[in-house]
Amino acid sequence: MSVHSNTKRVTTQTLQEMKRNGEKIAMLTSYDYSMARIVDEAGVDVILVGDSASNVMAGHETTLPITLDQMIYHAASVVRAVNRALVVVDLPFGAYQGNSKEALTSSIRIMKESGAHAVKLEGGMEIRESVERILSAGIPVMGHLGLTPQSIYKFGTYTVRARENAEAERLMSDASLLDEIGCFGIVLEKIPAALAAKVSAAVEVPTIGIGAGADVDGQVLVAHDMLGITHEFSPRFLRRYLHLYEEMRTAVGQYVLDVRSRDFPNEKEQY
Ligand code: KIV
Repeated sequence: MSVHSNTKRVTTQTLQEMKRNGEKIAMLTSYDYSMARIVDEAGVDVILVGDSASNVMAGHETTLPITLDQMIYHAASVVRAVNRALVVVDLPFGAYQGNSKEALTSSIRIMKESGAHAVKLEGGMEIRESVERILSAGIPVMGHLGLTPQSIYKFGTYTVRARENAEAERLMSDASLLDEIGCFGIVLEKIPAALAAKVSAAVEVPTIGIGAGADVDGQVLVAHDMLGITHEFSPRFLRRYLHLYEEMRTAVGQYVLDVRSRDFPNEKEQY
């Protein structure tokens, strides 16, 4: 965005104010320029360059294979499209778990090379030192608790987390910790709605739910899922606003027929 633009940018302070005023926060993923333009123009407050790009863009089974360089490529493409939304980028698996210095170095690369505004990390207590070190460099951090897909091989499944008391208590204390040390928001993925409501009431910072019910401060979905570009993935929490997979496949099929039948291009479509 030009520094002279009149559009008022969403900042981490804006999100805090929205929570205080009871205004819900809308967040969606984007991984490329064209999608980010639509998402930003439609008024989404936070754009997440999620490591779900590993699944959606690259076709991997998990989020683990995506690299820091690939995340930076996606993030820089998104940043070029955005005028208003806050752009948050996932630190990918392997770019922060080693130690807090590695976490800071990876975060600095994301901020410098993509122009994004914040980073997101999965985990609670175990990443405390990394979160503090990133924050001390002036980089805003968003937390992510509940189902944390980078730990899929530890969990074994993508089912709802923290149904049992012990895990719910641990999640509650992780959320309080992330709140106290200065994260500007926390994603709560696939946890019982009652627990998400309790966490949201207990912490100062906005909570953003995905499969966490209505009593959180905002919602996030993967844009390709809510637009129906992906179509094999149908969890209960997903609302599909379009069925673009079918529409796009039909359109492409029609193009193939038109080329083969010599209908395309016609006289008006040539020089
Ligand atoms: O990578 C991602 O898209 C995410 C959201 C599902 C929250 O982390």
